[in-house]
Amino acid sequence: MGRMQFDSGAGLLHTLTSYSPEREWDVPADDQRLRHDLTPNDPETLPSPVKDFAQDLPVTVLPRDLPQPGISATAVLAGQPAPAQPLDAAQLGRVLFLGGGVVRTAERNGRRMLFRAAGSAGARFPLEIYASTAGVAGVPDGVHWYDPIAHALVQVGPAAGGAATTIITTGIPWRTGWRYAERGWRHMYWDAGTLMSQLSAAAASAGLQPRIRTLFADAMLRELTGADGVHEHPLALLSFGDQPPAVQPGGPAAAGTLPPVELPLCTTAQQAGTRTSLGAPWPQAPALPDFPASPDLDTVIVRRGSQRRMDRKATLPRQLLDWPLRAAMRGIDVAHWIVVHGVDDVAPGLYRWPDLNDPIRPGPLRDELLRICLDQSLAGDAAYVVIAATPPAGLDDRSYRDAQLAAGLVEGRLHLAAYALGATASGMTFLDSEVPALLGEPDDLVTLLFTCVGVGSYVSRPGGAPGAPTQVAIVSTRHGGGLR
Ligand SMILES: Cc1cc2nc3c(=O)[nH]c(=O)nc-3n(C[C@H](O)[C@H](O)[C@H](O)COP(=O)(O)O)c2cc1C
Repeated sequence: MGRMQFDSGAGLLHTLTSYSPEREWDVPADDQRLRHDLTPNDPETLPSPVKDFAQDLPVTVLPRDLPQPGISATAVLAGQPAPAQPLDAAQLGRVLFLGGGVVRTAERNGRRMLFRAAGSAGARFPLEIYASTAGVAGVPDGVHWYDPIAHALVQVGPAAGGAATTIITTGIPWRTGWRYAERGWRHMYWDAGTLMSQLSAAAASAGLQPRIRTLFADAMLRELTGADGVHEHPLALLSFGDQPPAVQPGGPAAAGTLPPVELPLCTTAQQAGTRTSLGAPWPQAPALPDFPASPDLDTVIVRRGSQRRMDRKATLPRQLLDWPLRAAMRGIDVAHWIVVHGVDDVAPGLYRWPDLNDPIRPGPLRDELLRICLDQSLAGDAAYVVIAATPPAGLDDRSYRDAQLAAGLVEGRLHLAAYALGATASGMTFLDSEVPALLGEPDDLVTLLFTCVGVGSYVSRPGGAPGAPTQVAIVSTRHGGGLR
């Protein structure tokens, strides 16, 4: 592994999609490798919110009455073992729903928006979820696409070789590129991490031993899912247990209908990281010995939303900084910093996790965070803001993807921990050019993702059950609402 190159592959995409104060976020950089002929948010090119399959394919309807393991969210996030539940259609459906199910709907600009259980940058929800099943009671062995609206499995391919039932996440660049252009490629990995945090928590709470893999043979996973490698890419795998994942294609998969727009820079960034073998799962981290009381995981997931307004005057107890960070960082080796605005017994300032005692930079930073987060009020109003960033040394075109996904995973876990303990959270984007100076790091620092955690100014309505999403009104942020 060398030092990431910034003039090709993922590094080039990172550079050309970096935000700075000199350019509006929705204006492409002056480089011909970016598309300049597309209008963001053009109703003419709006992609469908889910993949469509024109063919008549076999459907397995999943039970809408979800099993309830009843394990507290904090116990799951702490990594405490949970009793093994049978892996049947209902349990698989529960795991899929708690990651990708439609939990809320809202009207925006005359369109019906579908909000999924796990958040997504700008609510673009670019991910698709497949399950390659092996021995799941009530589900034929095969490769299935999860239909998040009907809560059903649509069989797109024959049974795969391998033993462990495996969930495969893919990303459709144009679904997020429609709003965020080529930077949307980063968003796919953020969102995949956020999704993985919920899928793996849901699986762990049913004793299903989730194993995340991000190193795999891309061509094999494309064949398995029908992702074409231009308009849809495989991003991550989650297997149940330690047997070899069921990902050896048994035959071709049905190709669904994908949005026809290509962002060539995303294609080359993705291709630069292509690999040909299956890697080991992400390491299992030891469980945290302590975990505060909380409602059960399923309740916390449907309650979760991205808080749009936080109470700047309210503070969080130190325990709501320390414990969520410890839980979110289990097994993660990407560096994280914390800007503390309002936490009891922790002086405002910038800290490098895990040291919460000596700020690298003491003093109030609300205004600076607001500026660095494109005037989005949450960054100044939160109790604290967590920042994932990594030096380019040691990154390559593949591990860059992993670093983005790890940052998303931490964001997702922080979100669950915050909501489990009565706080709120939101993912947050940033001006890349301003982060190295904030953190006192070299200019080539690769900034990954911000997460705001704070006290909510309102309470969201909980999401609904499979097939019965809650209808909500969209709450907008105080500033910068156009960006989310
Ligand atoms: C990776 C990521 C980045 C996000 N960035 C921002 C942001 O910059 N500003 C913001 O207001 N919300 C941000 N969000 C919150 C999304 O807008 C929110 O997840 C989406 O609207 C779906 O709503 P929900 O999370 O309430 O279901 C982000 C979310 C994620 C997962």
